[in-house]
Amino acid sequence: MASAWWPCLALALFSSLAASGFPRSPLRLLGKRSLPEGLVDGIEIYSTKINCKVTSRFAHNVITTRAVNRADKAKEIFFEAELPKTGFITNFTLTIDGVTYPGNIKEKEVAKKQYEKAVSQGKTAGLVKASGRKLEKFTVSVNVAAGSKVTFELTYEELLKRHKGKYEMYLKIHPKQLVKHFEIDVHIFEPQGISTLDAEASFITNDLLGSALTKSFSGQKGHVSFKPSLDQQRSCPTCTDSLLNGDFTITYDVNRESPGDVQIVNGYFVHFFAPQGLPVVPKNVVFVIDVSGSMSGRKIQQTRDALLKILEDVKKDDYLNFILFSGDVTTWKDQLVQATPENLQEARTFVKNIRDQGATNINDALLRAIHMLNKAQEEHVVPERSTSIIIMLTDGDANTGESRPEKIQENVRNAIEGKFPLYNLGFGRNMDYSFLERMALENHGLARRIYEDSDADLQLQGFYEEVANPLLTSVQVEYPDNAIQDLTQNNYQHFYDGSEIVVAGRLVDEDMNNFKADVKGHGALSDLLYTKEVDVKETEKALKEQDYIFGNFIERLWAYLTIEQLLEKRKNAQGEEKENLTAQALDLSLKYHFVTPLTSMVVTKPEDNEDQTAIADKPGEDAEARSAIPSTAYQVSYQPPQNPYYYVDGDPHFIIQVPEKDDAICFNIDEDPGMVLSLIQDPVTGLSVNGQIIGDTRDSSDSNTTKTYFGKLGITNAQMDFRIEVTTEKITLWNGAVPTTLSWLDTVMVTQDGLSVTINRKKNMVISFGQGVTFVVVLHPVWKKADFLGFYVVDSHRMSAQTHGLLGQFFHPFDFEVSDIHPGSDPTKPDAIMVVKNHQLTVTRGSQKDYRKDTSMGVKVNCWFVHNNGEGLIDGVHTDYIVSSLF
Ligand SMILES: *[C@@H]1O[C@H](CO)[C@@H](O)[C@H](O)[C@H]1NC(C)=O
Ligand SMILES: *[C@@H]1O[C@H](CO)[C@@H](O)[C@H](O)[C@H]1NC(C)=O
Ligand SMILES: *[C@@H]1O[C@H](CO)[C@@H](O)[C@H](O)[C@H]1NC(C)=O
Repeated sequence: MASAWWPCLALALFSSLAASGFPRSPLRLLGKRSLPEGLVDGIEIYSTKINCKVTSRFAHNVITTRAVNRADKAKEIFFEAELPKTGFITNFTLTIDGVTYPGNIKEKEVAKKQYEKAVSQGKTAGLVKASGRKLEKFTVSVNVAAGSKVTFELTYEELLKRHKGKYEMYLKIHPKQLVKHFEIDVHIFEPQGISTLDAEASFITNDLLGSALTKSFSGQKGHVSFKPSLDQQRSCPTCTDSLLNGDFTITYDVNRESPGDVQIVNGYFVHFFAPQGLPVVPKNVVFVIDVSGSMSGRKIQQTRDALLKILEDVKKDDYLNFILFSGDVTTWKDQLVQATPENLQEARTFVKNIRDQGATNINDALLRAIHMLNKAQEEHVVPERSTSIIIMLTDGDANTGESRPEKIQENVRNAIEGKFPLYNLGFGRNMDYSFLERMALENHGLARRIYEDSDADLQLQGFYEEVANPLLTSVQVEYPDNAIQDLTQNNYQHFYDGSEIVVAGRLVDEDMNNFKADVKGHGALSDLLYTKEVDVKETEKALKEQDYIFGNFIERLWAYLTIEQLLEKRKNAQGEEKENLTAQALDLSLKYHFVTPLTSMVVTKPEDNEDQTAIADKPGEDAEARSAIPSTAYQVSYQPPQNPYYYVDGDPHFIIQVPEKDDAICFNIDEDPGMVLSLIQDPVTGLSVNGQIIGDTRDSSDSNTTKTYFGKLGITNAQMDFRIEVTTEKITLWNGAVPTTLSWLDTVMVTQDGLSVTINRKKNMVISFGQGVTFVVVLHPVWKKADFLGFYVVDSHRMSAQTHGLLGQFFHPFDFEVSDIHPGSDPTKPDAIMVVKNHQLTVTRGSQKDYRKDTSMGVKVNCWFVHNNGEGLIDGVHTDYIVSSLF
């Protein structure tokens, strides 16, 4: 396949965020404050930036979206981006409240296990699916706590391919709400110099965009910026919804005074070749058209319309014929005829009378076409310097005559013998597209989908335009022997007007001075040889002076092209060869961090390589074998950061999160300093946690109420004969009778037999008893001398159903109902009736803070406050939980 004429040089991106419909918080009824603009369902997207750097056609795109959950409760925030099917994702990171979850590329099989595990544990799964004709939609959702901020950053790279004389980038945008800082910023650097640059938006005329859109180019640099103010984003002057919804398209081309250009950086080179001003090589075209029963109706009508349009474009030096196939194969003429006005008139009449009928015999139709072209060349019916093409259109699978795909492929391959290209057009979705693709690829052509839609005739006609003007045939790009290695494809059957040939490779000797490239091809009138010589040091120096380009882009471009070609070759490979190609493509994907059909992106929690939280991957071709719209392209699973949790912190405030309700319950226990309370007691696992209360020692002369906190915690694992005492000054571990003392001033991790204790200096410590039990102790450095402790249960799923204690009793699922929300004694805090554990209680809306991530500020958690030491909510009364000692 000539990479030079892949038509999809689209780079599209669509960015939006949306909040899901979580149950509405009761507080919402009270209309706490008027909503600021740009807030949809409590989510404010305050910034979206699409940053593209294109250097020598290689595009590096970063989309960054920042949002904050201004709602009173956790919300699921969705991030969506549309990117071209030909692009490779290279990075994705999530940052939640300052904690970054980075993406790593892994082999698909490895990542798949982790993905399946995540899904089996009920973690949210996101997807990337095909979207429209050229795009894939990447979607991920995260659950974001009230007041929290989240940043999504997606990076992808793509080589823009020249198509009908232009490089084109689509940025599909759809922010779904007004965004305070919305910006598209595109910098293009082209060493050959930019000859044209344009940008336009499908959703509004450029005059109305006014100052929001700027575009400029000069010499080698081009810049496009689109930065609409809030007012410019409004769909009308008083509207609060956004008119940004559609394609933002940037097109450009480079100077073509020279037929080609070579660029070299750090031992890698790329060679672009696109000569201008050559006469078109006459072509001999056989259209092989499926007229089987399934084509009936609109499809056959659109095919007729397209062929009539194509006949208008056929040049008088071209030769043509039509072969129609159903169960039988019929031809318009016995042999190819020249496109004289009389013949074209006759062809129109023939096309208008095409009717559908019967079954599908692809094999015989193609063999007839190949035979006809071979014979025309041999018998000199067609001009000596002409070139041949078969364009086959089908909407279904072979079902009569030879119908085994492998056999058809073999027959066609043996008949064509590499002499001319076969283009297969798959109409609609009801066929084995991968078969069409494999067959076209092994005969130097390519397959294209024609989407069953009102513009199908235009798609067919558009495809014909791409192949209508061959300027060169049998193109060979050659470099001096032994000077180059790891070369990408360097021979092409055709060079078509408006496209470009791109070859990349490595210099064997990085210090070579002169680089020479020869391009040979057959033109309409003569054979041509283009020679290009460049001074390696000079071209390298010129490129390196461009400080804003990323230094190794030519190496990445080479890797991108190599992977793309290996994956394509792999489609027709078998056995060991296929394994070999797979291994090479996988190797490069991992090395250069590309999400390809062989790799997945795994988003991991920081400092925790075991706990994978999100996965993105691109599917293999199998997934798209039989559907018009290739199915799943990436898969993402994400573990919400907010598992059910239970904690006690502050005064002491107990917080019980109830995930089924997306809400929380809280209560205080007022006891005298010195008392010890049972927090967790599990007779089955032998785990217990007790906490000792201390008083606030600050001067409190104006009040005789003493605040109380936890100052000491005792954690016991009886089965392991293990104890930990945590005070605000030190941490003591007992393994049997042997104590180890650690300080809050250390950053240290202790592991043994499934137990792990990590101290994060002056902040918190994390204690895990194997998988399924994890506690976090937070150190609050509030007072000068005496600090206090918070205790969080972040994972309790391995604890038994018999667990008890002030926190432990809530580890089992339980339900509550809140009704009759009414004003309470504090106007900002409504009261309500709660029914829980067969008690009816009056509760008050309040909030507490979660200090797990941010020990100084905390994150606000709204909850229903149960009065009188949790009376009615906790089993028994609070004094039942007083124990005699920490252990
Ligand atoms: C991925 O993006 C993050 C955030 O910008 C960055 O820190 C990291 O280095 C990137 N990873 C790669 C491999 O480029
Ligand atoms: C596999 O690749 C190696 C080079 O990496 C090559 O030497 C070998 O011949 C290849 N084998 C096959 C079956 O293609
Ligand atoms: C101190 O506490 C007691 C008992 O709780 C209460 O009766 C008294 O009024 C309080 N004194 C002041 C000054 O608040």
